[in-house]
Amino acid sequence: MISDPVRLGVAGLGRGFMLTLPSLRSDPHAALVACAAPREESRTAFVAEFGGKAYATVNELAQDPNVEAVYIATPHQMHREHADAVASGGKHLLVEKPLAISMDDADAIVESAARAGLHLITGPSHSFDQPVLLAREMVASGKFGAVRMIHAFNYTDFLYRPRRPEELDTAQGGGVVFSQAVHQIDIVRLLMGVRATRVVAMTGAWDAARQTEGAYSAVIEFEGGRFASLTYSGYAHYDSDVLQDGISELGLEKVPATYGRSRKALSRLTSPADEPKLKSGRTYGATDAPSPAPHAEHFGPMIVSCDRADLRLTPKGVEIWGDFEKKFVAAPPDPAPRSPVLRALYEAVRNGRPPTQSAGWGRASLEVCHAILEAARAGRFVDLKKQ
Ligand SMILES: NC(=O)c1ccc[n+]([C@@H]2O[C@H](COP(=O)([O-])OP(=O)(O)OC[C@H]3O[C@@H](n4cnc5c(N)ncnc54)[C@H](O)[C@@H]3O)[C@@H](O)[C@H]2O)c1
Repeated sequence: MISDPVRLGVAGLGRGFMLTLPSLRSDPHAALVACAAPREESRTAFVAEFGGKAYATVNELAQDPNVEAVYIATPHQMHREHADAVASGGKHLLVEKPLAISMDDADAIVESAARAGLHLITGPSHSFDQPVLLAREMVASGKFGAVRMIHAFNYTDFLYRPRRPEELDTAQGGGVVFSQAVHQIDIVRLLMGVRATRVVAMTGAWDAARQTEGAYSAVIEFEGGRFASLTYSGYAHYDSDVLQDGISELGLEKVPATYGRSRKALSRLTSPADEPKLKSGRTYGATDAPSPAPHAEHFGPMIVSCDRADLRLTPKGVEIWGDFEKKFVAAPPDPAPRSPVLRALYEAVRNGRPPTQSAGWGRASLEVCHAILEAARAGRFVDLKKQ
């Protein structure tokens, strides 16, 4: 029983917030008490649902004395400015992935949180998914020996979901590397438990109408000769969720009738200028949040090869393929898929026990994103220096 939830403000009531909202509604570790949103429609809806204060700017939200922590769910390029404002107001931070776009901005965010003595969690990210945390415990127990290799892949229609123009421009943080690779990077770094050392990769940008990376394959080398291969296609027609028990990234049962929905909606637009409107139609106050999910979230198939077992992460738990037997361990139930990140926020703010996914952690994952892009451009390994 939680009697003292973290009093949370949220900056940005867009898609990222909408995906966290079902968990915020049902998990007891945080209570939404204020928001900052430029759109009146979103502010009105927020006050109607949660009461509290709704501000037009993050600066005002950051000064609200009732707010203890702020969830920054604004577009990537605004994270630095908003993190500065929130840290200046003395509030702890939960910053959506990626922490920033440029490494300079990431450095500045790390410094401003540290200078103010505040906790900063980079998340939600799929490294907080319950099966990932369960696999991490299994690895940490040492029972299966060292992790030697991880294979992760994900086939989605990411590039055909409605986008703001900057989400289709790599220089402004667009494309699948900044928004999607960062999840796989977070997960494999967490499960390896040792430093990543260098990266080699190729990226694909093969839709001239949406000129940013929609696909990549990358190999990350870790200390001790360990390695992870990450592949992602945001151009996919194939849906790798069929290999995840037919459960979506958000932990919902897939509905076959929704096949091709994103491409259909885009094809109906009469002008590209209408696409941001299609995206803002999916934000808070404009439509409903996704239904509460019965399963954990996931980020595509993932196999973790250890000395004495292969672990397959599923949306329900972890399959252990051992030397002599195969068994399944269910992930512990939680009120909602994003409970672990809210619990981590509570532990940081109330008990001074922050999770691994700190500001420095978010910067290290962002460095790997840049290394993927650089390695693909240069056609060589890129060394990592901020891990
Ligand atoms: N963890 C996840 O599953 C997940 C999913 C989607 C997005 N995200 C992350 O969320 C962030 C936002 O992306 P999105 O897809 O939600 O974009 P979005 O455009 O849907 O939402 C951004 C919101 O920020 C608001 N905003 C813009 N300027 C603002 C300002 N100055 N002050 C306050 N609010 C402002 C906009 O009105 C909008 O509602 C990104 O960093 C993205 O990576 C995370």
